[in-house]
Amino acid sequence: MPETKPTRPAPTWRFAPIILAGFAVILLVAAGAIWFFGAPAPLQQAAAIGGPFSLTDGAGKPVTDKTYRGKYMLVYFGYTFCPDVCPTTLNDVAQAIDKIGPVADKLQPLFITIDPARDTPDVIRQYAAAFSPKLQGLTGTAAQIADVAKEYRVYYASHKTGPGPGDYTMDHSSILYVMDPSGHFAGVIRADEGPDAIAADLKKIVS
Ligand code: NI
Repeated sequence: MPETKPTRPAPTWRFAPIILAGFAVILLVAAGAIWFFGAPAPLQQAAAIGGPFSLTDGAGKPVTDKTYRGKYMLVYFGYTFCPDVCPTTLNDVAQAIDKIGPVADKLQPLFITIDPARDTPDVIRQYAAAFSPKLQGLTGTAAQIADVAKEYRVYYASHKTGPGPGDYTMDHSSILYVMDPSGHFAGVIRADEGPDAIAADLKKIVS
């Protein structure tokens, strides 16, 4: 009779250290990849929308993001010479504000120009006031506008339409951003969904 080694089934816990070591290696590699390549886009955006800004209001006074602490900010970027999208959106926003009743008191709608060369404090104040007395227009230096647009991930670019210095239009992204009373990102609202849907979304986000 051949001699046989006694066999017994390997208990699964014997592999536990190997499995744990494996997970540790995977975590380390993932952490290294995030450190080296940057966080995946959804994580990055959730962390990065909005931030500190320094701008000028319609009265020519300096304002910052802290000026609006305690209220939700509804932020829209555009420019007063915009032929279509901005006036349509701001008209819808003004109607939405009228529809949400007392919720509107917790809200500060802001229109930030991406065309500061033409949108002086006077120009932006009169333009914003034409849509709603609650809407505040903000402008700034080209560098200040570039900074705040970058923080909100807003795209804008100018296109020449003629030989004169004022002969240009601006391309810009069109999204409504909501920031909470402590200045943190609270959500986005589609700018093209109409006043009723904007009002419904505002009621959901603003509490
Ligand atoms: Ni526009």
